Formats: sequence, C-alpha cells, structure tokens
Amino acid sequence: MTLWCIRCGREAEDSAIRCECGGLLEVRPGRIAYPALSVLDARRSSRRPIDQSGVWRFRECVMDIDESRIITHPEGATRLYERDGVFFKHEGENPTGSFKDRGMTVAITHAVRLGARAVACASTGNTSASLAAYAAQAGLRAIVFVPAGKIAAGKLAQTLAYGALVLQVRGDFDDAMRLVLESSQRLGIYVVNSINPFRIEGQKTIVWELLQDLDWNPPDWIVVPAGNLGNTSAFGKALVEARQAGWIDRLPRIAAIQAHGANPFYRAYRENFPPLRAIDAETVATAIRIGNPVSYEKAAAAIRATNGVVEEVTDEELMAAKRDIDRMGIGCEPASATTLAGVRKLGLRGRVVCVLTGHVLKDPDAIIKNASPEQIVEIDANIGEVERVLL
Ligand code: F0G
Repeated sequence: MTLWCIRCGREAEDSAIRCECGGLLEVRPGRIAYPALSVLDARRSSRRPIDQSGVWRFRECVMDIDESRIITHPEGATRLYERDGVFFKHEGENPTGSFKDRGMTVAITHAVRLGARAVACASTGNTSASLAAYAAQAGLRAIVFVPAGKIAAGKLAQTLAYGALVLQVRGDFDDAMRLVLESSQRLGIYVVNSINPFRIEGQKTIVWELLQDLDWNPPDWIVVPAGNLGNTSAFGKALVEARQAGWIDRLPRIAAIQAHGANPFYRAYRENFPPLRAIDAETVATAIRIGNPVSYEKAAAAIRATNGVVEEVTDEELMAAKRDIDRMGIGCEPASATTLAGVRKLGLRGRVVCVLTGHVLKDPDAIIKNASPEQIVEIDANIGEVERVLL
C-alpha cells in the first residue's frame, strides 16, 4: 500500500480519501530511483506526449503506473516569465486554464485504475472545470458541487461545456466540501478534490518544473495563493523530495498568501499553527473564498519545512496587483494576483517566483466591472464619433 496517514501513521487502502482517524493521507514514496537531471532535461526536448507533459516528465516521482494507462492532455510545460525582476510561472497556461490539471491527470488516472465510474469534487470553479475535462477524456461521469452564484463565469461555462453535472449548493465552498465528502461515503463516488493524495502528487510538478526552468538553480522564494491549501502542501512535499533527490542543494522558502477576508491559514500562522479555527470567508477572489481549508495540517508542515511565511492581502491590494500583471500583457485571475500583492507587502528581495494559478479569462466580470469609463466607450457608427473620442 502506498498511502499512509500523516496524523496516526496507519496505512490506508489506495481508494481511501481520508484515514479512519480523520487525518489526511499522503502518498509514501517507495524506494524511488530519482531520475538524473540529465534524464529530465532530455525528456523536456523529447516529442513523446508523456515527456511533453510537465507532470509525467517526472513520472517516477509522481505515480507508479504503466505508461499506456496514463490519462494526459498533456498538461503542464507552462512558461516562466520574467518581468521587472520577478518571475511568474503561469499555470493559467494549462489545458483548462489553471494549475488543477496537474493534479487532475494523476487523480483521474488513479480513478480509472480503481475502476471508478463517477468522480466528484467541491469547487470554487477551477477544479470543477479540470475534473470535467479529464473525466470527459476518460469516459467517467463527472459531478461537481459549487457554491451557488459564487463561481466565476468562465469556470461555470467550462464545466458545463465539458459535460459535468453541476450541483449548485445554496451555501459556500465549505458547505459544498462537506457535502461531497458525505456523498462519497454514502454513494461510493470517488472524490478528486485536493484532499485526494494523488492530486498532490501531480501538483508537486509545478515546483519541479519551475526549478528546471531556472536550470536547477533554486530561487529564494516561491510565492503561492492559499485557499484550500492543496498547493501549499504540494510545494512543501516537492521541495523536500527535490532535495532528497539531489536535484537542489538548498530549499527556497514558501510564501503562502491569503485574501484578508478568507484568512484562516494566516491567522493560524500568527499563532504558531494551533488546531484550525474555521471562519466565514468573503473576498472578490472567489477561487480562494474558503474558510475551512482541508489540507491545513499538510500546509502547516510545508511552511515549517521550508522556513516559510504566510501573509494576507486586502481585496484592494490583490486587485491592484492583478491590474499590474494584466497590464504587463500576462494576465491572471484575481486569486493568482495575491502573489504579487504578497511580494510587495512582505518586501521580498532576491530571486522570487510568483505562481499564477489561473488564466485571465476565468473571471471576465472581475475585469469588466473594474474597467474605467475612459477605456470602454460606446459610439455611433460614424467617423465623427471616432474623432470625438480619439482627438
Ligand atoms: N488559485 C486559483 C486560481 C484556484 O482556483 C485555487 C483553488 C487556488 C488558487 C488555491 O489553491 O486550494 O490549493 O490552496 N481553487 C479550488 C477550486 C478551491 O475548487 O478550484 P489551494
């Protein structure tokens, strides 16, 4: 068995989502022969789809499975931009426009291996879009639980387009999360939220790929938005494993950034990580409007292991940072911009990588609502009108 509980240490079945004690499960690596950097670098220029996937390029350290059974778009292989001395790893360039695809390729591959017929998640929108796309590819039924009226238009549209059944829960994300876990117990549906340990295995590759982008010369900081805390957890595991593998000789520090109105992790950090106290969450960054993050314990361990920090930023600060990222010609959704806002608030120096988690078109309303009247002008169809506006 490959799963073990981080709380009580017991082993669990490969189909389990949580330990009987309620603790989070983690994939325990067997005795991995870590690939050499020369092997990883050669795969990067290979034409085989499995090598072109920024997830499966690292396959020995992601999942032990026959290559022919992998369900891949392929995903990952996103760009690393440098602008004004800061690096941006743009996970919005994944096939469904968010980093979720990196975990989903692994979780859906595993779901098929288990013989699951239906997969489900609770979501603020990106996980649901990703699940819907990968379930469609694998021929599985997709069921998503979203907070009614609280997910961005691009995400809802995508989820519907790929064919998932959308259950709009009258409540918030935390209600949807509770409901999906309850449904999975009663109805035997396989849950692929980031509480699923195989999701985390895929999301580790965000960090490995950005290290490879930097020629294995680790940055000082990796800055990540923090919501349900799957990514923060995955980043910690990735960094520890990269050092074990000998790919890097020192650990970058993780800076996890929350929105002020959805900041249970930040509050816990300030008190040296006591048992989590859930809050009622509210923020314009709907992706991270989460008050009771499921991966809290793993994420706290990740911050400790990397001598990391947790910061909060206001909605005004994150929207100002989003505008700047957008105006660089890069663009991202609001939650992703917490990273640059956090860099500014923390005054981070040195080599800093911000992970942009979602594409600019995920949340069109956040852009259109904030456009100034000088930028979007309605005119009659004659040249006089054009001159009136331009001259
Ligand atoms: N950024 C974006 C764009 C997200 O969609 C999410 C999470 C996060 C950051 C936070 O990552 O949960 O690993 O701490 N979105 C989930 C969803 C909750 O349902 O799509 P996290």
